[in-house]
Amino acid sequence: MIVSENPAVALRTQFEIDVRTGLCHDGQKTLPSKYLYDALGSTLFEAISLLPQYGLTRAEERILRGCSRDLVRHLPGRVMVSELGSGNGRKTRRILQALAANEPVSYYPIEISRAALDACEAELGDMERVSIVSVEQEYLEGLATVAGVRPAGSHLLVLFLGSTIGNFAAGDDARFLREVRSFMERGDSLLLGADLLKTPERMIDAYDDPLGVTAAFNLNLLARINKELESDFNLRAFRHEARFNHVSSSIEMHLVSKTRQTVTFPQSGFAVAFNAQETILTETCHKYTRATLAELAAKSGFWVEAQWVDDKWSFAETLLRAS
Ligand code: AVJ
Repeated sequence: MIVSENPAVALRTQFEIDVRTGLCHDGQKTLPSKYLYDALGSTLFEAISLLPQYGLTRAEERILRGCSRDLVRHLPGRVMVSELGSGNGRKTRRILQALAANEPVSYYPIEISRAALDACEAELGDMERVSIVSVEQEYLEGLATVAGVRPAGSHLLVLFLGSTIGNFAAGDDARFLREVRSFMERGDSLLLGADLLKTPERMIDAYDDPLGVTAAFNLNLLARINKELESDFNLRAFRHEARFNHVSSSIEMHLVSKTRQTVTFPQSGFAVAFNAQETILTETCHKYTRATLAELAAKSGFWVEAQWVDDKWSFAETLLRAS
């Protein structure tokens, strides 16, 4: 196991800095979506992935079940796999299984959540010819670590599944992939999962489900901030809203302040004022097309080697090759 140098204290400080930076300025307040995933948030996301209205996760699982053999045919013998954000590892099993049928594989899941890494090791630990090395770091730091231990002559397959790529702000997706590319060698592979554009009605339904699970997932971010930073958000004074932004082709998750109110952070020495109806943008979920995915690949130093699309829920799994 590789453990980051960050002690919990430093992480808490970074969390505090990020929360303060996102909330204390004029204009649209924001919070980084990666903080949605504490223990309760991760559990709520698992519940979301079971909702009939949210087909994304199931679509990707169907694709991976169907394409993993085909995928292996596009890769050379000795493959080292690293995954950006493994979550519980369930989706990755198929890929590792197909790869390990030929050769032993080493698998490096990169996660900032220790709990997710533990779940991933528990889920995949029984696989024969698969050795798991957990990397508890941010994505790019983790990739640097992985690139540093990579044996000469091996092929690196980076997995970036679940349409997490869609959570970057406009333009940052290409910047991020270029950085990922910088840790790879020419000819290496990146398997990228990306959700595709659907009708606004279908997308809103997926991000504002009638059971209110997504609302709970979003509001839990305020509960987490209260718990970890000792602030006093009144969760009942905010409501969840999902909007489709036609300009950026993104679903936006907002927390809307129902009234004019002030939230205090006594331990951190600041307070945040909200107008009635003012919102915090907590997540942007960009929706791609096959054309915008090809453009993204080209802009970041890759070409499209293969692509699989689910027909029930338009989602694309794209195998990119570093050019
Ligand atoms: C896990 C980032 C793919 O963007 O659809 C689900 C997270 N947010 N419902 C997404 C999410 C609201 C999800 N990703």
